[in-house]
Amino acid sequence: MDICDRILIGNSAAIQGVKELTRHVAKSDLNVVICGESGVGKELVAQALHLSSNRRDGPFVKVNCAAIPKELLESELFGYERGAFTGADKTKKGKFELGHKGTVLLDEIGDMPLALQSKMLQVLQDFQFSRLGAKKDVTVDCWVLAASNQDLEQAVSSGRFREDLYYRLNIINIFIPPLRDRVEDIDPLIDFFAAQSAHKIENVAFEFTDSVRDFLRQYSWPGNIRELKNTVERLMLLGDWQTVQRLLLARETKWVDGHEPGIQPAPLAPDPDKKETRQQKFPPLKEVKKKAILRAEGELISEVLTETGWNRKRAAEILQISYKALLYKIKQLNLRPED
Ligand SMILES: Nc1ncnc2c1ncn2[C@@H]1O[C@H](COP(=O)(O)OP(=O)(O)O)[C@@H](O)[C@H]1O
Ligand SMILES: [Mg+2]
Repeated sequence: MDICDRILIGNSAAIQGVKELTRHVAKSDLNVVICGESGVGKELVAQALHLSSNRRDGPFVKVNCAAIPKELLESELFGYERGAFTGADKTKKGKFELGHKGTVLLDEIGDMPLALQSKMLQVLQDFQFSRLGAKKDVTVDCWVLAASNQDLEQAVSSGRFREDLYYRLNIINIFIPPLRDRVEDIDPLIDFFAAQSAHKIENVAFEFTDSVRDFLRQYSWPGNIRELKNTVERLMLLGDWQTVQRLLLARETKWVDGHEPGIQPAPLAPDPDKKETRQQKFPPLKEVKKKAILRAEGELISEVLTETGWNRKRAAEILQISYKALLYKIKQLNLRPED
């Protein structure tokens, strides 16, 4: 078991591929972009890259380009001399200097301001720069990794990200798929996080039964592994499964709302601006039909969900609709599991 296997839990083909690539790339100093949704493990993969490389005994330094105010990011990266600007009362090294002989992770690189992107491009040529307000250059030896949860190619085409910097950084691209696309990893991750928190908790209040695991395996995990970790820790501590289940369903419904699976919601109320709905004694037939269909759908879906114990993947199979379409229907019809 090497460092990748030790820190990157999961056996899905997807995570195996990520581990393989990580081991391979760690032997080089090639620039890497790690991409994937928030919480999939980008930072952890960056650490695995560092720890698998010859730089493992050097520093690992992370800069979150989205969290640091634009005006400060440059001084954070390159440092400054005393008196460089108001408030610079002592000389400070930047992250690149701190990462000398080690690895620097530029997290959320897509949020780096354009002006700084051109400076970055220069720095990546020769690793020479000067602290703000300094006369002399410093030279550093860093392995630069970048991570992003945005589609950088799209950022390039919309002019938010420099194309030349993109090609410079993206020599190797490691994509980490969302957790919902590697369901096999959920059980080992539950066990891993449960064991981790068992160490910290005196009286563990929870057992991950088959039905709990079933539910967790089907959940969409919009917050990916970070959300799974928080969920496991909370359950281990509080054991409030009913509440957690409800919170997860509510969160998933919201998430599905933002990712409409291509079916149009049927309007339940007539549009008051439409001519034909004004001064009508009888509702239009179309509307009655829609309502009747929704009601019938609601009844059938509830029945199937109850039957399957809210196993939504199985329910979708039985109903012969896509999983996403089912989640959407659940939201549209405001269905929830009964106590
Ligand atoms: N494969 C994995 N095995 C174990 N823990 C993981 C794995 N992937 C992510 N994590 C954990 O999930 C959390 C989120 O990971 P992180 O690397 O910060 O995600 P990202 O940078 O993509 O937002 C961290 O606590 C991390 O340790
Ligand atoms: Mg991160």
